[in-house]
Amino acid sequence: MDKIVVEGGNRLVGSIPVSGAKNAALPILAASILSSGPSTFKNVPMLQDVATMAKLLRQLGGEVDGKHTMVVHPPHGKKLKLEAPYELVKTMRASILVLGPLVARFGRARVSQPGGCAIGTRPIDQHLKGLAAMGAKVHLDHGYVEVECKRLRGATIVLDMPTVTGCENLMMAATLAKGRTVLENAAREPEVEDLALMLNKMGARVQGAGTAIITIDGVDELHAVEHTIIADRIEAGTFAIAAAVTRGDVLLEGAQAEHMDAIMAKLRGAGATVTVESGGVRVRGGGDLRAVDITTQPHPGFPTDMQAQFMVMATQAKGESMIKETIFENRFMHVPELCRMGAEIHVDGRVAVIRGQKKLAGAAVMATDLRASASLVIAGMIASGKTEVLRVYHLDRGYEAIEKKLRGVGAKIKRVRG
Ligand code: EPZ
Repeated sequence: MDKIVVEGGNRLVGSIPVSGAKNAALPILAASILSSGPSTFKNVPMLQDVATMAKLLRQLGGEVDGKHTMVVHPPHGKKLKLEAPYELVKTMRASILVLGPLVARFGRARVSQPGGCAIGTRPIDQHLKGLAAMGAKVHLDHGYVEVECKRLRGATIVLDMPTVTGCENLMMAATLAKGRTVLENAAREPEVEDLALMLNKMGARVQGAGTAIITIDGVDELHAVEHTIIADRIEAGTFAIAAAVTRGDVLLEGAQAEHMDAIMAKLRGAGATVTVESGGVRVRGGGDLRAVDITTQPHPGFPTDMQAQFMVMATQAKGESMIKETIFENRFMHVPELCRMGAEIHVDGRVAVIRGQKKLAGAAVMATDLRASASLVIAGMIASGKTEVLRVYHLDRGYEAIEKKLRGVGAKIKRVRG
């Protein structure tokens, strides 16, 4: 297994190109199933998760070509296979996003239940409740979920929580349903908005994306589309933290500030200088960092996907910071690794208290989930000596060429093939 080796002590200076958003690309690629013709997607991030989604689309009988610009011929004809197998789904939970489009377009689907992951049990009850409300027969069979419905019908669905992929699955399913679907307590993430924009370009009638109430009026068919994926606000936020803690000066090229209000507010609260420029967002770390408290929330609140990265900044801030993780039940696995590097962090349930101004020392550390591994790379950039981040396959799921991008702004970082 590959590892990332980081030497601490360098300031990050220069500009980093921000890739397309992983969490927009995944539902958008799945949505291509809803049309019959080949769609073209631009600004696709070259990530392990995107490769997995492409593999799944091929497995279903589709064709996928290209890299940053991808052409997808949706599953069709004799090669059509309405099953997403466990072998694939277990490597990427977001495979569940093919469920809604398959049922809407072909009337049935058999998808392995994604199961949990390191950060939590990750249930899909809201996805299934919504499809059942639209008239689908839902059957659990040996770890698979089988969903059937000749034609879905519009329904009003009140989500128990603003689930991102739950909302995306149901929004996609509703585009071809008969009648109107209203999703209440909908997720408001920018990635949900980008998906809705693409669906409407395909001929769907989605209104209210980005708000808590999304209305979808079903149509009979959708056509192929060309769509450019939004920038990845979490990748941009990750590099912003790295700039702040290394007292650097980095332009996040292509970052969309309008998606990053909560992240920018907390960076400014901590004493970083954040300025919106024509080419993106510039982050400067100057004087001492201040302690800030964070509670993760659904968008537009502070994103859970930035929690681990902010925790590293808290270890350097003047004072004591409190971080409350309200979205996932087990998203503090980076804590013991950071403590091994010299951080002082106390966890009590969903709350972590971080004592600041701790000198970190490089160590061999274990990545456990995507964003935790990013936080360990950032910690390695400010620790004394060398840090080896093991199991970087977690990192490759959500960050495109991270060591190349960070080396480009002065980090002493390399990948050692294992
Ligand atoms: C999406 O996951 C993202 N993934 C996650 O990003 C992100 O952390 C998460 O949203 C929250 O913002 C993609 O978009 C591919 P949820 P998702 O459904 O949709 C509970 C990353 O690092 N829930 O919004 O799976 C669930 O347990 C990844 O890029 C149910 O109870 O998250 C959680 O507590 C990690 N039943 C909460 O809702 C359901 O049916 C939010 O989960 C669905 C969710």
